[in-house]
Amino acid sequence: MALLEVKGITKVFAQKKNSAHIVLENMSFSVERGQYVSLLGPSGCGKTTLLTLMGGFIAPDAGEIILADQKVEDPGPDRGFVFQNYALFPWMTVKDNILYALRVKKVSSAEQNERLQELLDISQLHGSENKYPVQLSGGMQQRVAMVRALASRPEILLLDEPLGAVDFQMRELLQEELAALVEGAKTTVVMVTHDVGESVYLSDRVIVMSAHKGRIIQDVHIDLDRPRNRQSAGFKAYVSDLTELVRQAFREKTVAAEPPPDSNENKNQFSFVDAYNRMFSQYTNNVTNGRIAK
Ligand SMILES: Nc1ncnc2c1ncn2[C@@H]1O[C@H](COP(=O)(O)OP(=O)(O)O)[C@@H](O)[C@H]1O
Ligand SMILES: [Mg+2]
Repeated sequence: MALLEVKGITKVFAQKKNSAHIVLENMSFSVERGQYVSLLGPSGCGKTTLLTLMGGFIAPDAGEIILADQKVEDPGPDRGFVFQNYALFPWMTVKDNILYALRVKKVSSAEQNERLQELLDISQLHGSENKYPVQLSGGMQQRVAMVRALASRPEILLLDEPLGAVDFQMRELLQEELAALVEGAKTTVVMVTHDVGESVYLSDRVIVMSAHKGRIIQDVHIDLDRPRNRQSAGFKAYVSDLTELVRQAFREKTVAAEPPPDSNENKNQFSFVDAYNRMFSQYTNNVTNGRIAK
């Protein structure tokens, strides 16, 4: 049985003038335990929508998502989520950011400390635990976001363009760090990206999504040894094949008879701040519920 099963997911967003935008239609795939799967596709094809469905932040209009035999209905500690642009709590130190989920769960301080040391090891952030996010480089912030998501030992790590905000020059280096970190944590990953090279460097599988209703154009297994050599002929062949598939993904949008997108892009764009606030209030609710339950 696969760890994660996406079964016939449809997601529709209402638009102005009673029209509807079908972002994902009847989408299905599964992810095996330990796999690193990337969702690759042009901007606006529904990658973030799919990931937030997996995170339980929004609900599908049809279909269901099953994680470790449980239907996903709400956000939960079995899923570590890293938002686009990392979203650390700026008012908390590195240590407090990392331990946030464990404190909410009222894990004993001895266990918190043990876990903190492990997470500082795999992220190589020893010495920075009392700094604030603003005092760290982009790469370090990214590592904090990653281990914060790993703190509660989730079944799966959901990453939304985790390197999206990083300079081009830094990206390859951080991809190497990310690969090492995931290997060290031995976790299952679903990562959203629009960067073909990044998907080949990191993934066991790359699912290419069309801009038209999120159709899966191809599910490509990357059969290359790790650590991967970007200069190898095999690597370059995957990059060129996937680049062609992404071009096809763009063209599907052009030929599709969709209503024109809302002119006010920002208004319709999935709001990162909303998601962040929702995540925060979900955590706060958990704390309150925990108190009431006791
Ligand atoms: N909450 C929302 N309300 C309305 N439309 C949305 C919402 N979230 C996303 N969309 C629309 O769904 C489409 C897919 O968005 P998204 O999943 O963010 O794409 P990607 O992450 O692949 O760039 C876009 O056209 C976007 O404007
Ligand atoms: Mg996105």
